[in-house]
Amino acid sequence: MTSDLFAGLEPKQSAQENMAKGAILLRGQAVARADDLLAAIGKVSAASPFRNMVTPGGHVMSVAMTNCGQAGWVTDRSGYRYDGIDPQTGQLLPEMPESLLTVATEAATKAGYPDFRPDACLINRYEPGARLSLHQDRNERDMANPIVSVSLGLPATFQFGGLKRNDPVKKYALLHGDVAVWGGPSRLCYHGVMMLKDGEHPVVGRMRLNLTFRGAL
Ligand code: SIN
Ligand code: FE2
Repeated sequence: MTSDLFAGLEPKQSAQENMAKGAILLRGQAVARADDLLAAIGKVSAASPFRNMVTPGGHVMSVAMTNCGQAGWVTDRSGYRYDGIDPQTGQLLPEMPESLLTVATEAATKAGYPDFRPDACLINRYEPGARLSLHQDRNERDMANPIVSVSLGLPATFQFGGLKRNDPVKKYALLHGDVAVWGGPSRLCYHGVMMLKDGEHPVVGRMRLNLTFRGAL
């Protein structure tokens, strides 16, 4: 059988992979801008620190989060929402740095969403052991906007499924600089991130950072 020939080898990673209709993975799309993105994340998190938010059910999330832009995604015992104020600092969220906006609009254009102008960026920090269970991004106002997701640091396994929670999921390794975009017919696809394996990334260290750009308001 031909497949035996390739057993144990990494699958070939092409520059672009279609995950589903309207959903595309742009390999290495942000790698040249990674240093700028990391510096910008440092500035944002100095003003609005990473924190482990609580779900409406009372579960403390293993992924630490912060936000920038006009609004940020917040969860607490009262539910999920977008808020222009960081509930922890009581201050307006930091503005979205230009370097982040540029990466988001470039990737969206390449993926077929040239009009996307994000107003919110959720920044996720995964330390080894952290995971994000299968969910839909459905708190944004206008589902005509795609989600643009930029990965930095340690590799993670991304799960991308269908419109129903029980639909089969495909798995993709997301590496430093990879950008995933899902919109149109895929906008409400279930997705998640499997438990982060331990490791040390040469630039980012012992963590994975992820930026998701959204049209929230
Ligand atoms: C998310 O679903 O908001 C984050 C996805 C990721 O960390 O890759
Ligand atoms: Fe999500």
